Amino acid sequence: MADSWEALEQACMNCRECSLWETRKNVVFGVGSRDAEVLFIGEGPGANEDEQGEPFVGRAGKLLDDMLAIIGLKRENVYIANIVKCRPPENRDPLGVEQDACIGYLRRQTALLRPKIIVCLGRIAAMKIIREDFKISREHGQWFEKAGIQMMAVYHPAALLRDPRRRPEAFDDFKSLQAKINELCEHTKAE
Ligand code: URA
Repeated sequence: MADSWEALEQACMNCRECSLWETRKNVVFGVGSRDAEVLFIGEGPGANEDEQGEPFVGRAGKLLDDMLAIIGLKRENVYIANIVKCRPPENRDPLGVEQDACIGYLRRQTALLRPKIIVCLGRIAAMKIIREDFKISREHGQWFEKAGIQMMAVYHPAALLRDPRRRPEAFDDFKSLQAKINELCEHTKAE
């Protein structure tokens, strides 16, 4: 049977494939347009996201919204999801077993969405999606192609909050994203 967003979301909401279900308040499935041509992938929910059930709603999320606005986009024009859908306690990095237990949901989201462009937000997403030994400080802003999808990683917004000196590089990466969207996307306008 063909997958559907509804079936997938339902399965994800009830998931107990790793131990993160025991401490979660909410599953953070994803947000945005289900016809989006651009998919942003973070690492996993933090405390605010766990409370609200939506990705990137804390300070890092506000910065992501500001970066999107610079290239004329709102979160409703794209889709935003995470590698793991439940909050790792104490905001630690998601463990390999947790990522492996959860990645199927992101793969099914990607299959339903069929994005033209994937943007990895930070090192953890880039290592899972682009290449296991991805080096964010060296390779952010570079384009890669996998299975016909153009992919790039940018610094995680939380890293930009910690180290504002990296913001000019992030700005350049978003300008490159803007150009790629306008080259490849049919109905997403980044102006
Ligand atoms: N950081 C992430 O990687 N994802 C979120 O949803 C929030 C913060």
